[in-house]
Amino acid sequence: MRLKDIQNTFHEALDADYEKPEVDHFFFMICDYYFNFKRITLALEPEYRISEADAIPVLEALESLKKHEPIQYVLKSTEFFGLEFQVNNAVLIPRPETEELVAWIIESGLDKIKEPLRILDIGTGSGCIAIAVAKHFENANVFGVDISEDAIGVAKHNAELNNVTVNFIQADILNVDPTLVSDFSLPFDIIISNPPYVREQEKLQMKANVLNHEPHQALFVEDHDPLKFYKVISEFAKINLVEGGLLFFEINEFLGEEMVALLIEHHFKAVELRKDMFKRNRMIKGIKKI
Ligand SMILES: C[S@@+](CC[C@H](N)C(=O)[O-])C[C@H]1O[C@@H](n2cnc3c(N)ncnc32)[C@H](O)[C@@H]1O
Repeated sequence: MRLKDIQNTFHEALDADYEKPEVDHFFFMICDYYFNFKRITLALEPEYRISEADAIPVLEALESLKKHEPIQYVLKSTEFFGLEFQVNNAVLIPRPETEELVAWIIESGLDKIKEPLRILDIGTGSGCIAIAVAKHFENANVFGVDISEDAIGVAKHNAELNNVTVNFIQADILNVDPTLVSDFSLPFDIIISNPPYVREQEKLQMKANVLNHEPHQALFVEDHDPLKFYKVISEFAKINLVEGGLLFFEINEFLGEEMVALLIEHHFKAVELRKDMFKRNRMIKGIKKI
């Protein structure tokens, strides 16, 4: 089969739902994934052919894309902070704005002042934050918790894939059981969380690939209490951070001011709100006071 013809089939099936360059991007990602075929080859050899057998997974992937399945789930893999992560529909697909949060944590340079750091990532999902941080703070003791047993399985696999040690624990942060705290035994230097923060009312603005495929447990909070996770985690951090320890959150862009007030109320100082690359209030940091 001519690869060019399969590419045209992709356009016929997907152009109504996606921009043309995005469809090309999907097509070449899939070709690269299944048979290491690069975009440049088709430019140089427009008549390039693949066998019927090689075409099967490519066309199967097209069927998944037609159902708006995110390309990262189709390929079961994604990149985050320069590292490879396996993903499936038990975990949120790591986002570029979360990479900016990780960059901010690394920028804090706390490892230059104290080693080994103790770090906790709450709502770890694929383990992307915990693993990227562990990769950079090489001597740190890193922990990750998530309510989802399946997510914890994915995160453990990703830690192996990236050759780091992270202690992943299944737990519900809204009902912290005392044994969880005894598992940790010592206070933390850094607590990070990207908890569920999308209000039900924001569903209408969401695309089908997110709404119908990514785990709702990872995304949504009820409209009447959108800061539910932030309140509980700030309270937990107040007790379980060392003095001068850092609390980092990814946040809902519409709730920046409320988040500043919440951290101040929980006795954090030097509270700083930061925008992401789209100039949206997306992350916040506070330092634990005495
Ligand atoms: C927005 S996702 C973040 C995933 C990952 N940290 C990231 O940045 O891509 C939120 C995560 O919180 C987890 N979660 C939801 N409710 C939780 C709870 N009560 N206790 C612990 N984790 C929870 C979800 O399973 C999900 O993995």
